[in-house]
Amino acid sequence: MAAEQTDKIAVEDLSQAQARAELARLADLLARANAAYHRDDAPVMDDAGFDALKRRNAEIEARFPDLKRTDSPSEQIGAAPAEGFGKITHAVRMLSLGNVFTDEDLDDFVRGVRKFLSLEDDAPLAFTAEPKIDGLSLSLRYQNGQLIQAATRGDGAVGENVTSNARMIADIPQSLTGAPDVLEVRGEVYMSHADFAALNTAQEARGGKSFANPRNAAAGSLRQLDAEITRARPLKFFAYAWGELSAPLAKTQKGAIDRLAALGFATNPLTKLCNSADDLRAHYAHIAALRPDLGYDIDGVVYKVDDLALQARLGFRSTTPRWGIAHKFPAELAWTRLAGIDIQVGRTGALSPVARLDPVTVGGVVVSNATLHNEDYIAGLDAKGGRIRDGKDIRIGDLVQVYRAGDVIPKIADLDLSKRPETAVPYVFPTICPECGSEAIREEGDAVRRCTGGIICPAQAVEKLKHFVSRKAFDIDGLGAKQVEQFYEDGWVKTPADIFELEARYGSGMQQLKNREGWGDKSAKKLFEAIEDKRKIPLERMLFSLGIRHLGEQASNLIARRYGSWEVLEAAMVEAAGCDGAQWEALLNIDGVGEVMARSLVTAFAQPEERASIDALAAHLTILDAEQPKTEGSPVAGKTVVFTGTLEKMSRAEAKAQAERLGAKVSGSVSAKTDLLIAGPGAGSKAKKAADLGIETLDEDGWLDLIAGQ
Ligand code: IVH
Repeated sequence: MAAEQTDKIAVEDLSQAQARAELARLADLLARANAAYHRDDAPVMDDAGFDALKRRNAEIEARFPDLKRTDSPSEQIGAAPAEGFGKITHAVRMLSLGNVFTDEDLDDFVRGVRKFLSLEDDAPLAFTAEPKIDGLSLSLRYQNGQLIQAATRGDGAVGENVTSNARMIADIPQSLTGAPDVLEVRGEVYMSHADFAALNTAQEARGGKSFANPRNAAAGSLRQLDAEITRARPLKFFAYAWGELSAPLAKTQKGAIDRLAALGFATNPLTKLCNSADDLRAHYAHIAALRPDLGYDIDGVVYKVDDLALQARLGFRSTTPRWGIAHKFPAELAWTRLAGIDIQVGRTGALSPVARLDPVTVGGVVVSNATLHNEDYIAGLDAKGGRIRDGKDIRIGDLVQVYRAGDVIPKIADLDLSKRPETAVPYVFPTICPECGSEAIREEGDAVRRCTGGIICPAQAVEKLKHFVSRKAFDIDGLGAKQVEQFYEDGWVKTPADIFELEARYGSGMQQLKNREGWGDKSAKKLFEAIEDKRKIPLERMLFSLGIRHLGEQASNLIARRYGSWEVLEAAMVEAAGCDGAQWEALLNIDGVGEVMARSLVTAFAQPEERASIDALAAHLTILDAEQPKTEGSPVAGKTVVFTGTLEKMSRAEAKAQAERLGAKVSGSVSAKTDLLIAGPGAGSKAKKAADLGIETLDEDGWLDLIAGQ
């Protein structure tokens, strides 16, 4: 189907869909015109034409503010080309996959899927198995059969706009026939071994930079501001997934991949349908055997539940799907000498030993540091006190085996005792913090030794501040890790609250920011403005920014959404301080919040110094209520739901995940605040209590009817 002609429609007559398409067209056109003018010195339109398009773009944005693109041409200052790539918010988040490394892990995965779906042991369950391509993922958006946008994964929510570059890749169709009106195709951009070798030879001959491996070469080639460079690089693309769709592609994963192949995408020929864990293992072995001759890098095999209705039921954990997993190949190894051990002190006071290695190449990358985890690991013990490496301890001077699995920090797998220098002595782990001299203690059950200095420990205070200003936290323009380190050193900023007093203290008077080295009138003013700008902060960011141990970004989102506002959250944390009672239970009940995380969270609100620092910070801020999930039309949005008794058509975990997806709060106990009880066979005291309180009660079928179609 040809793209609808939106360029002739008057702004006031555009429908929402037409406006979206027209904004995309204008963004593309204006970006090209910009590049042609500024970069190539070869204008493709005159100034008046350019201005008219920009005006039209601005008028559409004024009429449809929600459709304003992240790479909007009106955000581009003057007519200069934007630095870096525009940003694109993915219509459907681009998540990653969980990993398994062993046969047992694979069995656990299959068992977990069956359990979640409440499948009988002998009920059939099919999976696809296909190579995991070692490249970079790309999302291609087609509207009415036309490629209109291509975005890298970025942080999963927002990627980089690489549309012009993707248009240069031969495997990527520019237009499709017979596709759904909206189709986002996802897959991997990669470079073959032969093309990689030829590229590096050519780069070296030209005196240019050579790439460490095909994945880096693919990434470097796609992420070129000049799309002509991408054109000259031989990139390939395999399609293996999708994002937003206006109509389903098929009923099964395999069917959907076949449909993408029929539409003209390259799909991997080693994709196979498997009916059991044994089948998956056999195909894994088959792919592993072919790996050296495939001609491109793969780093494992991906398994996906085939039935898309089951995939939908399985859904996602915070960052990975329940319906799929990557079975990674064993990591590559190399031997080198351990030159020393440094101790780093982190944000939560953890003393982390880091191996300093004689540089060595592992899987194409030069490695000179590796993690040594903790003191037990160095001593040859695992978390439960069992022996690892046959109990061999690691000593400075040892010949050690280094490995990298995927993108993770290099690790040490083993050491060669026969090469140990005679002078090597057992490593003595420090019991004093190397940064502040406070005692470093190991609590019972904790694998890690921690500095007890709290925020008096400069390492902890600085790491906390760095986390506080980081991109996913307060993200203050002009205030990065380097600046907070300097401000800390000079005593200007000791705690997050101090950041919000910077202007009052150093905006005028004796000591002024603008007089510091590296700062000026303009940059100081800009920083104060950027700080002012962050006085209003969403609850989830505030929570994540506090740098509470175990509390990551996803969990902060879940918790913020559950409590809604800072006041409610704070009151609940105070009530839960003793790690018991209704608020404690409610916290543990949040899907994705475990006991360790919950303890850490309530402790942060209970510990006097930390609490004082949080209060001082909060006093400077307006903390915005958390955004609730989009649950338009959901009959249970905002309601408190309790499940009790046996569920027969799904597991409790699935029911809970489903209710939460629809915006309900799932609680473990019945109270006056409960809106709905779903009671299966065997329901006991909770059903009785609900009846006494007059709470609406449904059986499992009633629940499924209620949420049907959601
Ligand atoms: S499916 C929900 N299939 O691996 C995520 N991913 O670790 C669905 N990858 O970000 C992804 N080959 O970049 C899928 N055959 C394949 C893949 C594959 C490579 C990459 C992809 C993804 C990462 C996850």
